[in-house]
Formats: sequence, C-alpha cells, structure tokens
Amino acid sequence: MAVANTVAWRRRHLVTMEDLFREEIELILDTAPQFLAVQKRESGIKKVPLLQGRLVVNLFLEPSTRTRISFELAAKRLSADTLTITTSGSSAVKGESLHDTLANIEAMHSDIVVIRSRFAGAPAILTHRHTSRIINAGDGSHEHPTQALLDAFTIRQHVRAQRDDPGAGLDGLRVAIIGDIAHSRVARSNIWCLTKLGASVVVCGPRTLLPPKIERMGVDVTSDLREAMKGADVVYALRIQLERQAQSLFPSLREYIRLFRVDSESLKVAPENALVMHPGPINRDIELAADVADGPRSVILEQVSNGVAIRMAIMHLLANSGPEE
Ligand code: NCD
Repeated sequence: MAVANTVAWRRRHLVTMEDLFREEIELILDTAPQFLAVQKRESGIKKVPLLQGRLVVNLFLEPSTRTRISFELAAKRLSADTLTITTSGSSAVKGESLHDTLANIEAMHSDIVVIRSRFAGAPAILTHRHTSRIINAGDGSHEHPTQALLDAFTIRQHVRAQRDDPGAGLDGLRVAIIGDIAHSRVARSNIWCLTKLGASVVVCGPRTLLPPKIERMGVDVTSDLREAMKGADVVYALRIQLERQAQSLFPSLREYIRLFRVDSESLKVAPENALVMHPGPINRDIELAADVADGPRSVILEQVSNGVAIRMAIMHLLANSGPEE
C-alpha cells in the first residue's frame, strides 16, 4: 500500500486529539488500510507479526465491551501477548492506586498499556511516571481519541468512494453531532479531530447538555435539530449517557425523543446521501430510530470494523516508529 504521507511518527503515547497535528492524524488514517486488508485476508490468516513478543495490557476501569474487544483484537492481530484487567462496579480507583496498578503491570514488562478510566486526565498523568506506551481508551468526559480516529477514517472512506477520488479528505464537510455533548468524550475528541481535518462541526442538543463556551472549540451550536441537520454530510448521534448525569438534565425521555431523535422524519432535512453514525452502544429508539440505525445511510457497523484497523495502526506506530525512550 502506498503511504503518501511523509511525516514520521514521533510520539510515545496517544492521549488526546487536542495534542495531535493534522499530519499525525493523517498518518494514522493512512496507516490503517493495510490493517483493514489483513482482516479481510482470503487465506483466513488474519494476523501480522508486527508486535510479536510484545505485551499489550488493557486496563479497563470502567464498563466497556466494544472498545475493549476492539483493542484486544487489534493487539492479537498484531501477534502481541495480551492481558485484560477490568474492574466492575463503583469501586473508585484513586490516583495513587492507579500508579501502583501500572507499576505492577510494568514490573511484568508491558510495552503498551491501553487505559479506560472514569477520571478525566488519568492517562495523561500516567505518561509522566511510567515507561509503557499509553493509549487513552476514554477518560471520563474528556477524550476518546481512538473513537474519533475511527470515525474520521470511516467518513473519509465514504467521501473517497462517493467522489471517486482516492485522495479526498474531509475539507469542507459538514458534520452534525447530536445529543449529550456535555458528557461526551466522543464529541470532544471528534470536534478536535474533524476541525483539524478541515471539516466544520455543528453541535446540537438540549441547552443543559451543551457545555458553556463550547463554541470556543470552533463549532456552531444550536438546539434546533433541523437547523443542525440542514446541509450536514454526516449526522452523528451520541448516546444519552444517563449514568454520567448527576441530575436529570432534560424533562423526560419522551421530550428528548420528540426534539432530538435522529429518525427518518427528522433526517428529511439532511442531504439524501448523508451518513448516519453512532459510537455505540445505541439506545435504540431514544437518540436514534432503530430503522435508521439498520438502514442504508447507517455506517455504524463499518465504524466497528474500522475501529480494529485504526487501533492496529496506532499500536504499530507507537511500538515500532516512536522514539526509543
Ligand atoms: C463511547 C464511550 O464509552 O465513550 N462508546 C464507545 O467507546 N464505543 C460512547 C458511549 O458510551 O456513549
């Protein structure tokens, strides 16, 4: 596969999209297709030995299925040894004990540690004291960089196919992100990623779910679903995160559905070929109508497939291209 990008990967960790430069984002996106091809191999051997003999530890301190298995599979398809550590329930993992947990993992000579934590900033703090490559798999309401990268990759694939242009990017695209923006690390990482790639973003949700000063991130803001969808090339529905809401921030689910659900009725104002996306897990018929989730505009399962390839690309770049120490 020809990689047009000439930038070399220089980072030891992947913690936020806020940190990354456009060239670095494009390097990751350009590295993924070769791993997508590995997954589709007709020989049936869906593996490459790029991380053979390395140890990847998945430290998931918050409930997760999709992201955890995606990272596990990515590591296995790169032939790494993998360990997954999960904690369930509400036991708070304090800053100190997180350092201790990681110190113990590193005593077993881990190369990459993938961490999901309910504490915003936890992955960044860990990078200062430990030697493993750290990948942020979601930290509180802060960031979820690999989700944004797989989303950008999925959008780019479709733009390239629609325009029949293998070099097309996201410049000039309009993406509408709908729902619980305030509690969403997916929204935050996507806003950084999409705007760096030249797309324009409009965020839409009930006022109580729009963080104050969000427009400083360079996005348009509205509480009118139809206004957000007008002219959108991508309609991105977020999950209503009931578990993160300290109090009820909208009057009722019925009210939310009436005003903000992405369904065939509200989608009428969007262009006919607009893509429908969602990070999963979907609350069917709440933020997204089931028939739209399963319909022809939906690329939700492609997001899942692409997620493995993007995570393979990131682990490969971190382990094989970054600086030694
Ligand atoms: C997201 C997450 O956990 O941040 N899901 C995911 O990673 N697939 C979004 C969500 O939970 O709503």
